[in-house]
Amino acid sequence: MPLVRLDISHVRNLSSVRFEPSPQVNVIVGKNGSGKTSVLEAIHLLSFGRSFRSHKHKTYIQHENDACLVFAQLHQTQASPIRVGLQRHRDGQIDVRIQGQRAQSVIELAERLPVQLINPDAFRLLEGSPSIRRQFIDWGAFHFDKDFIPAWRGWQKALKQRNTLLRRGKISLSLLAAFDQELIRLGEQVNQSRKAYVEKLTPHFERVLSLLTSELSVNLQFFQGWDAQKNLAMAVEAGRERDIELGYTHTGPQRADLRVKTATGDALDTLSRGQQKLVVSALKIAQGQLLIEMGRPLVFLVDDLPAELDANHRQKLCRLLESLNSQIFITSVEPDTTDFTWADTTDVRQFVMNHGELSLLSKGLQES
Ligand SMILES: Nc1ncnc2c1ncn2[C@@H]1O[C@H](COP(=O)(O)OP(=O)(O)O)[C@@H](O)[C@H]1O
Ligand SMILES: [Mg+2]
Repeated sequence: MPLVRLDISHVRNLSSVRFEPSPQVNVIVGKNGSGKTSVLEAIHLLSFGRSFRSHKHKTYIQHENDACLVFAQLHQTQASPIRVGLQRHRDGQIDVRIQGQRAQSVIELAERLPVQLINPDAFRLLEGSPSIRRQFIDWGAFHFDKDFIPAWRGWQKALKQRNTLLRRGKISLSLLAAFDQELIRLGEQVNQSRKAYVEKLTPHFERVLSLLTSELSVNLQFFQGWDAQKNLAMAVEAGRERDIELGYTHTGPQRADLRVKTATGDALDTLSRGQQKLVVSALKIAQGQLLIEMGRPLVFLVDDLPAELDANHRQKLCRLLESLNSQIFITSVEPDTTDFTWADTTDVRQFVMNHGELSLLSKGLQES
């Protein structure tokens, strides 16, 4: 669902930014530190309830303000727009509103406003800890399987309880076995959902990557967190004694990973930053494409487009995003990095950011 109106208050240097984005392509240019990334950060906040730049909410709330607010209208094909809003207070409190009503959790926003981010930190998806890749898989599993979140929550709870028990020590094998049934049942459900998702994603990823570059051959392998030959019940049973020794659960879906390999070895070892960015972009675009195929439009945020990408690859990336027919927000320090690609029929709006003030430079279809 594209954003047809966006109001951002007190996010970093954005005291008050209000604008009507294009449902297709939005390009924001401006000098370093002018506030471009902060616009994307605000949209991300509205989808995830958290920033992609910092885990500490106090860093993105504007200095000397008690709270930041992001408010948007989301277009719907058959009905009037939905109003969604998120307010984050300095004391940590978070208020989510949908059509003026308080929502139970930020997950309700994520369902309505799926967002994919491609930014200069993208390589972290390859180089960072497995938890980053688990989050990536789980984002997809969440959007594809309505039972994923309840199963995931229940499994996390069972895992925490089990680890607390193990930390206390002096637990017998038989008592532990009695505790393990929920953990196994829900853990298996989480695992099946992740596995099914990665299977769906893989051919999309391969196709998207081949459109971005012909030079890379990369494959994805899902590691479920334990020996692939065993089911979770067998793995938990085989690991019980060791768990008691260690004082925590050492095997299971909490160790799952998405292994990204080139023909010659680990992606992270062999690829340049630019190539890594292409691989991660392909992963994220493939993820978005799957959702679009289900009739669920989403928003792509591309922060600092020129970073690590040459003109040829920038163009390919933009073309690909454009072909998905979804809403895109691109930032760039250089005004001329994006104005070459768009089709005549694409509604492109160019904005300039200057010291936290956003102004519209040009609007409308690229018809000559
Ligand atoms: N909590 C805050 N309150 C006010 N200003 C902030 C805060 N955090 C960062 N800033 C300022 O806001 C601006 C953020 O810019 P940013 O969005 O990163 O710019 P760009 O992406 O255009 O380079 C910077 O000038 C930074 O100094
Ligand atoms: Mg920036």
